[in-house]
Amino acid sequence: MDSVKIGIIGIGNMGSMHAKWLKDVPGAELTAVCDINPEAFKRLGDDLRAKVQCFNTPEEFFAKSGCELVQICVPHYAHPDLAIAAMKAGMHFILEKPICVHKAEAERLLAECKKYPNLVKSAMFNQRTRDAHVKIKELLDSGELGEIRRVTWIITDWFRTQQYYDSGDWRASWRGEGGGVLTNQCPHQLDLLQWFFGMPKLVDAHIFLGKYHNIEVEDEVNAYLEYPNGATGNFITTTGEAVGANRFEAVGEHGRLVFENDKLTFYRHRESTTDFIKNAKVGFGNPYTWTCELPYAPDNAGLCQHMRIVKNVIDVIRNGAKLIAPVEEGIRGLELANAMMLSGFLKQPVELPIDSKVYAEKLEKLIATSRYTKKPVTTTGNAAGFGNSF
Ligand SMILES: NC(=O)c1ccc[n+]([C@@H]2O[C@H](COP(=O)([O-])OP(=O)(O)OC[C@H]3O[C@@H](n4cnc5c(N)ncnc54)[C@H](O)[C@@H]3O)[C@@H](O)[C@H]2O)c1
Repeated sequence: MDSVKIGIIGIGNMGSMHAKWLKDVPGAELTAVCDINPEAFKRLGDDLRAKVQCFNTPEEFFAKSGCELVQICVPHYAHPDLAIAAMKAGMHFILEKPICVHKAEAERLLAECKKYPNLVKSAMFNQRTRDAHVKIKELLDSGELGEIRRVTWIITDWFRTQQYYDSGDWRASWRGEGGGVLTNQCPHQLDLLQWFFGMPKLVDAHIFLGKYHNIEVEDEVNAYLEYPNGATGNFITTTGEAVGANRFEAVGEHGRLVFENDKLTFYRHRESTTDFIKNAKVGFGNPYTWTCELPYAPDNAGLCQHMRIVKNVIDVIRNGAKLIAPVEEGIRGLELANAMMLSGFLKQPVELPIDSKVYAEKLEKLIATSRYTKKPVTTTGNAAGFGNSF
């Protein structure tokens, strides 16, 4: 099989890591990189830098690199335009999360995607490849839990310091990033939430802007969700809680699935909860339940999550495999994030789907009235300091 020539645009924290990891992916060949800041290429190290073409503008990269596949790893606002430019240049792409900052931009991108049916268009939803998440998806899709009644996800292990927010001038402002924890850290879980359970019909959220950090965007969100079948949900997240937790809990008619501290536990009962409530001859007690600890491969087995996405895209290009994370699905998690923010701003529940124009206008207003300034600090190494869930 011919290797796929890959380029990376944006050699920052994430792009430089992808560049180093690609050597482990069968069929992948990193041949070009691009960054508007030439200093960024130093992150590759001398050996790797000497092996690849370096471009200073995306225009030059698209015109001259000869790549078949491009990974787009720049700040979020630039995602749709670069993905569209990639398609115009005939390149398959893997777009970092979030695919866009707001739903209207995602709609614009997806309309363009329809014009290029033969190109592979993936999002970097690497957490879809985590073995535990694959197991959860299998259990839910097989109906093992029965009809879902409640889902609760507490994700407070995205702890970030002020230095993190100061490490890039685009971070944590309406103009530079367009949001906080929901836009930067949680796109993974918001994507998984819709991948597992579909979309809720209503979101009622409380949002807190700059509660724990000197930032203008949200660093704490507490959201209530309602699904078409009557199931309820809770989505709680912050970057200001130490020591944070990541606890996922799904309750169905036939039991409760919990994923926390790398342990996947299924409390399974054979009788449905509804039947037990109706038919039990006792006032207290529970349906007879097995507690099962479900095995899954640890996350450090083989390729890392991100490179599994790259490998999948190569398999799609070369062998017509099924795409794990189509970019078209990225609009759903984005809509969840926008709906939570909208609900928080309006201080009332919002029904889904939201009107993308309404949210776009709200964001424009926030940008226009922003008085937020910050002094970037110089950091060394991995400036954004990913410490956990990523
Ligand atoms: N999938 C994940 O696990 C994961 C983890 C971290 C970041 N990300 C995503 O990756 C993206 C980048 O984040 P980061 O932390 O690496 O940011 P960063 O600031 O460290 O790096 C961004 C790089 O892009 C360059 N750049 C900016 N605009 C450009 C343009 N138009 N053309 C070419 N280069 C450009 C900058 O000079 C910089 O070197 C974000 O969208 C973020 O959400 C994903």
